[in-house]
Amino acid sequence: MANELQPARGTHDLIGEDQRRYQHIVDTARRIAASYGFEEWATPIFEDTRVFSRTLGETSDVVTKEMYTFEDRGGDSVTLRPEFTAGVCRALVSNGLTQSLPQKVFLAGPIFRYDRPQKGRYRQFHQLDLEVLGSAEPLADAEVIACGWDIIKALGVAQHVVPELNTLGDRESRQSYRDALVAYFTEHQAALSQDSLARLDRNPMRILDSKDPADRRLVADAPTITPYLTEAAAGFYDSVKRYLTQFGVPFTENPRIVRGLDYYGHTAFEFITTKLGAQDAVGGGGRYDGLVTQMGGPSVPAVGWALGIDRLALLLDEPPPVPSAVAVVPVGDSAEAIALGIVQTLRNAGIRAEIAYRGNLRRRMERANRIGARAAVIIGDDDIARGVAQVKNLQTGEQEAVALSELAERLR
Ligand code: HAM
Repeated sequence: MANELQPARGTHDLIGEDQRRYQHIVDTARRIAASYGFEEWATPIFEDTRVFSRTLGETSDVVTKEMYTFEDRGGDSVTLRPEFTAGVCRALVSNGLTQSLPQKVFLAGPIFRYDRPQKGRYRQFHQLDLEVLGSAEPLADAEVIACGWDIIKALGVAQHVVPELNTLGDRESRQSYRDALVAYFTEHQAALSQDSLARLDRNPMRILDSKDPADRRLVADAPTITPYLTEAAAGFYDSVKRYLTQFGVPFTENPRIVRGLDYYGHTAFEFITTKLGAQDAVGGGGRYDGLVTQMGGPSVPAVGWALGIDRLALLLDEPPPVPSAVAVVPVGDSAEAIALGIVQTLRNAGIRAEIAYRGNLRRRMERANRIGARAAVIIGDDDIARGVAQVKNLQTGEQEAVALSELAERLR
């Protein structure tokens, strides 16, 4: 089959068990986010390229190497969203919502990055995303992290995940930390990788994120931000930690977290797992107080995270089972019209019910067994005359006549 087409590299179909895992993760997150008072938004999958290029950081890998950017037929440059946050800020401004703050937003859907595909890393993947727009309070930071942690717990994967926390300080803290890092790495620049050397001038904090083994040895002894924090930044960080403890979130501090996107200040965090090899982050986020201004809006302090659905799916033990159906089986042509009425009544009562499109009694019963139906509702001319149907329990084989008016109640 030389011409059989395959999914594009780095994409995958969600079918059967994979789709059930995906749906379970989104349903769980949606329920928990709603319980925290978040409202769901859906923003476009593609945006004006400037929404991302201006804001994620001109030196970030996402902008320099990973965006799916193209000119549309009208000559406009558009980009498939490589994350949700910038689009959410754009939407806040475009919809005039900067006057109705705070906004607590939840989203879920596909995200696109031209990354090198491997286990847990794809070119089309899926994120859950949570943002609080319009709060400068450290309680907002703690609340979004607590909500993420609750989702991870509800999915039953908390034993594989640790929330790791850091602060990137305020502008003043970052400036003095940056100077300290430049001094340190300049002293050791002969040992730095080519990539990190390029970052030394433009964004030295990103060196802390390098995967290069030689860089990592240097990073191990590099200064941390703690002594460079202003009193205000240190106080903010202490409050976030205090609230997290009050929320019961068991976090670990990791001064090496810098995040791969440039819009963060103050809180930065990741949900780390040891179960997925190199792809060790199931989620991450932080505070981004300047992003809405970059979108042309007023100053709107904000904090949020994204969780990788595909990575969470790899951690889930068992996907939830498919609820088993009731098969409605007419015997003879005249019974079919009644059977269609029954199948619709059951469906309207919220019962998963199926009717085969064709076939005699034997074929239809075979099909009922093949789809794993829990019961068959068999109806023939005699039954119609008596106003009943035969309900056969397909696990035990027991069969009894049930009045048509009582079917839905009995099969619930
Ligand atoms: P991020 O750390 O770039 O943050 O991505 C969040 C999560 O998306 C990662 O932790 C990972 O689980 C998943 N992910 C990233 N790339 C891939 C990939 N190629 N394949 C599979 N999963 C992947 C953000 O996107 C920020 N917008 C988070 C945020 C929201 N910050 C504030 N608000």
